[in-house]
Amino acid sequence: MVLKQAVSLLKVLIDLSFRKITYNFKKTKTYFCQMELTKENIQNLRQDYRAAKLAEDDIDQNPITQFGKWFKEAVDAKLYEPNVMTLATADLSGKPSSRILLLKGFDENGFVFFTNYNSKKGKDLQENPQAAMQFFWPELERQIRIEGTITKVEEAVSTAYFHSRPKGSQIGATASPQSTVIPNREVLETRVQELTETYKDTEVPRPEHWGGYLLKPEHIEFWQGRPSRLHDRITYTSVNGVWTINRLAP
Ligand SMILES: Cc1cc2nc3c(=O)[nH]c(=O)nc-3n(C[C@H](O)[C@H](O)[C@H](O)COP(=O)(O)O)c2cc1C
Repeated sequence: MVLKQAVSLLKVLIDLSFRKITYNFKKTKTYFCQMELTKENIQNLRQDYRAAKLAEDDIDQNPITQFGKWFKEAVDAKLYEPNVMTLATADLSGKPSSRILLLKGFDENGFVFFTNYNSKKGKDLQENPQAAMQFFWPELERQIRIEGTITKVEEAVSTAYFHSRPKGSQIGATASPQSTVIPNREVLETRVQELTETYKDTEVPRPEHWGGYLLKPEHIEFWQGRPSRLHDRITYTSVNGVWTINRLAP
């Protein structure tokens, strides 16, 4: 008798979970199908920003300290990859190009990222060592724009960071001729297998063409979304090493 009751209870529970899964699936499906991509619907995609404000009294006089404050708030808010940023470069003719990268450090000297020096961005920076970096943290309704000049970091810094990465990433970076055309994916995978075998018992040496860059900021803007598009924009511009602070119209 008790066993029969237990079996029926189990059946009910299974049935309920199945219905919940089906319901959730339908809900998700509906969610994905809900909005038709008409011109009008796309034009109506917008948010009003109300999370915070940025006043002259609240900011630090040093933009790196201010960046550190906002960066910590992004980390503490558990944002997904708060160190993701867009880096824009331009070639000698001025043709721009941008891509997502990870910020790997910052201090009074500037902002550091790592990449392949022979990549498209590497070539741009060789020709024209200026760049713009941009962070967007939608959950905090914040954007930071940083512009400045680029130099390579010291080789010892690149080597230390290279070896701090997982071995798979070290092999991946060594195997990949970043931004060049390759005939297929297999070429890459075969190269990874070969390198994995070569370095199975030893350290992977840092390739000379892989390392860090330092962006020394000359201009930094902190943007805080506000209602009705009246956003706060505070800029820091360096003139002879002294930071001048201004407010820009949104
Ligand atoms: C979330 C994310 C993080 C990335 N981080 C890096 C990075 O730190 N360094 C890097 O070289 N490429 C990184 N990439 C790949 C770049 O966006 C880009 O594809 C690559 O650097 C080649 O760019 P280029 O051809 O303009 O030189 C990342 C991509 C994404 C989406």
